[in-house]
Amino acid sequence: MLTQVSRSEEARNILLQNDRGGYTIPTAGLYPYQWNWDSAITAMGFAEFDNVRAWQELETLFTGQWDDGMVPHILFHKPDPGYFPGPDVWGGTGPIPSSSITQPPVAATMARIIWEKDRGAGADRFKVLLPKLRAWHTWFLSWRLDQGAVCVTHPWEAGRDNAPDWDAVMARIDPVGVGEYQRRDTSHVDGSMRPTKYDYDRYIWLVQMGNRLKWDQAALLEENPFRIADPTMTFLLLRAHRDLLRTGEELGLDTSGMAEEIALLEQGAASLWNPNLNSYDSRDAKTGEWTGTISNASYLCWLAGLDSKEQAEHLERSLQQVQFGVASYDPNGEKFDSKRYWRGPTWAFMNFLIGLGLEEHKHSLASHVREVTREVIRQHGFAEYFDPTDGSPAGGQSFTWTAAVWLGWASKEQGAA
Ligand code: DGY
Repeated sequence: MLTQVSRSEEARNILLQNDRGGYTIPTAGLYPYQWNWDSAITAMGFAEFDNVRAWQELETLFTGQWDDGMVPHILFHKPDPGYFPGPDVWGGTGPIPSSSITQPPVAATMARIIWEKDRGAGADRFKVLLPKLRAWHTWFLSWRLDQGAVCVTHPWEAGRDNAPDWDAVMARIDPVGVGEYQRRDTSHVDGSMRPTKYDYDRYIWLVQMGNRLKWDQAALLEENPFRIADPTMTFLLLRAHRDLLRTGEELGLDTSGMAEEIALLEQGAASLWNPNLNSYDSRDAKTGEWTGTISNASYLCWLAGLDSKEQAEHLERSLQQVQFGVASYDPNGEKFDSKRYWRGPTWAFMNFLIGLGLEEHKHSLASHVREVTREVIRQHGFAEYFDPTDGSPAGGQSFTWTAAVWLGWASKEQGAA
């Protein structure tokens, strides 16, 4: 078994090997481009040994920002036939080839962490980035709110691709006319760890619909059957906006209107509390129905500044049932599948975001979340995700954000800088 020191060396090497010059790919083969939230978490990892490179990662991400403020979930910097769907399927209209949906906005929160490591060197860079971050957040506020909660319009947008949250809406989609296409993901990793063909037909059908509507948000609001108010987006945007306000004030920048926006997002976050489940849940914005899902996104409430005794009880129970981290779906739930992507596996970066929130609240579960994440990586390496019942590695290997989370959080003792 590798020691903690050699794991850190390995982690740095993964970041360097997956560096494509100013941006990092999540892992060779399976994900050969720049992914939005992967990249932001990776920047936090780079800040452990190269602060300039950390800022550069975020700056490259914003070279893909669309005129309306949206920051795409994938930037296709260089063509790679090993990935599907590529830029031709998306039909994006941004400054560089990209997908046409976004991903959870963690960039402001990671920028804040990077800045705190070296305020002097980062101040000017943050000043340049801040209006771009704000424009992205404003885009969410303009197009994606449901009772103040933030909606996703494609499962890939939440980053939790095949989470059980989406099952009911996906079942209502008839992917008629989707045509023939060749998946590439299952040529890189075992199909039992990936979304099914049933899921993929619907993912592609949704992309084709957006492309047909030229990604016009007003038209999509009318026509897209997939619109779900989601705890991932809601909690992470609320947190990111808090970080932006705080930083803007400290740097003496214009932050007018932000406090009101935060209040609105707080209402939205509160609206995701499902009293029948006693948990934060996601809600179908088209029908108002709850999806009835306790997921690892439900546990991002602390990061957003919201404490909940009931949510902590769910987390405690989950951590007792599975030994190797926070399961992405309730281990008691009938759909729990310990190896299938977002239907059970534990993800190091989600554990990091959950753990950070718990630590800030001085919660008794905080150290446990960090320790189990450290242990699963120490024993099993830098997998994309892990089976939470036995810790076995799953999905892609040599994964960038798992390595970044090790460097910036999991390998350290709580309270260490
Ligand atoms: C994929 O291709 O599986 C990605 O999750 C889409 O972002």
